[in-house]
Amino acid sequence: MYQADLGLDEAALAPDPITQFDAWFADVVAAGLPEPSAMVLATAGADGTPSARTVLLKHYDDRGFVFYTNYTSRKGQELAENPRAGLVLPWHPIRRQVTVVGEVERLPRTESEAYFGSRARGSQLGAWASERQSAVIASRAVLEERFAELSRSWPDGTEVPLPDFWGGFRVVPWTVEFWQGRTNRLHDRLRYRRTDDSGGWAVERLSP
Ligand SMILES: Cc1cc2nc3c(=O)[nH]c(=O)nc-3n(C[C@H](O)[C@H](O)[C@H](O)COP(=O)(O)O)c2cc1C
Repeated sequence: MYQADLGLDEAALAPDPITQFDAWFADVVAAGLPEPSAMVLATAGADGTPSARTVLLKHYDDRGFVFYTNYTSRKGQELAENPRAGLVLPWHPIRRQVTVVGEVERLPRTESEAYFGSRARGSQLGAWASERQSAVIASRAVLEERFAELSRSWPDGTEVPLPDFWGGFRVVPWTVEFWQGRTNRLHDRLRYRRTDDSGGWAVERLSP
């Protein structure tokens, strides 16, 4: 459980970053922070120009951190050109931050289907209505008309299929850093760095 001014030391760290993330995520939820799953996703396409936006962390396990989006969006296009990303989970009220850097892969369709199927109908139709996420549109009315049209195509009781332009990405981490704010800005920064593909991690302390 989180306590104010508690430090983060090597001896208390979990052997792998996902177990450590799990412990911190439980603290964030227990602390009642709004949107604990909100994370900033940074990408850059082939020309190297960075872009960042918030997405929701929907799942995590030993394989990495999963979010869902439109594959044709700006982020989707950038990830197609350059499948690497940074994540920031900013948990300011409890003076913690987690940052992740890694390789990005698309989820298998079956996994995206399972998640899409669990979403509220309005969100499913909304994903379809924003088929061209990130493109310039003429007005809000265009979006609302499209939503109404889609609602008629798939009335209540019919299944809304997973759009082929929509699904999950997994960020497979190379590094995961845990930042704990401390007094006199002598913060703790402990970074797990993947040492091999079979689950080996090194932990390094970074200067704050
Ligand atoms: C709290 C919050 C959560 C969001 N979650 C998602 C998400 O899970 N997936 C998504 O595609 N967009 C999400 N968005 C919207 C994105 O920030 C962004 O506007 C959109 O994905 C288009 O990004 P892009 O043009 O850079 O591709 C979220 C925004 C906020 C503020």
